[in-house]
Amino acid sequence: MNGKFITFEGIDGAGKSSHVEWLADWLRSWGKTVCVTREPGGTELGEKLRTLLLNDPMHLETETLLMFAARREHLAQLIEPALARGEWVICDRFSDATYAYQGGGRGLDRGKFLSLEQWVHGHVQPTLTLLFDLPLDVARERIALASRVLDRFEQERADFHERVRQAYLERAHGNPSRIRLVDANQSLEDIRKVLEKVVSTHCL
Ligand code: TMP
Repeated sequence: MNGKFITFEGIDGAGKSSHVEWLADWLRSWGKTVCVTREPGGTELGEKLRTLLLNDPMHLETETLLMFAARREHLAQLIEPALARGEWVICDRFSDATYAYQGGGRGLDRGKFLSLEQWVHGHVQPTLTLLFDLPLDVARERIALASRVLDRFEQERADFHERVRQAYLERAHGNPSRIRLVDANQSLEDIRKVLEKVVSTHCL
């Protein structure tokens, strides 16, 4: 893998998505070729699976398998070819989200998660993961302000989101060289300064 693979993670309402395009443009200003994508999604099939996953109630293991099915397709069609060409891939969520949402939030057995992770991308891990963290009440207030229909995950109760947050923090604790915590409860400008510093140190 010649390119760099950066993933963005965090609970719903953490505000990570607004920084994805900004980071891509910042890297392009350094002459990098950058591909921006997201999960679930990123391919035609993956986007169809996203619509199902975000809207249709299903068994936890069905949900987990569909997340990894979309991911396998995404890796094969987009992520692995871009990395092989030496490009930068910025992905809004990846497997840490499955660990946090299906594992922490819904209680999926950790062994099943680890088997799927190994099967689908044992050979590919993000170069760097930016974990946007903030108190749950601030994230919930942000979601409440959204003027759109909330998806199945956003509609979950506060205790679900607290478990997701704790699972993310636990995952960060177990992977300190890959996952960097970003305090999302600060101004856009301050977050951008943090991103510039972390990405320069870790990847440039
Ligand atoms: P987004 O709002 O960041 O685009 O993500 C869509 C939702 O999908 C979000 O609530 C988290 C959820 N999700 C999982 O539950 N497991 C996963 O593996 C991924 C990638 C996303």
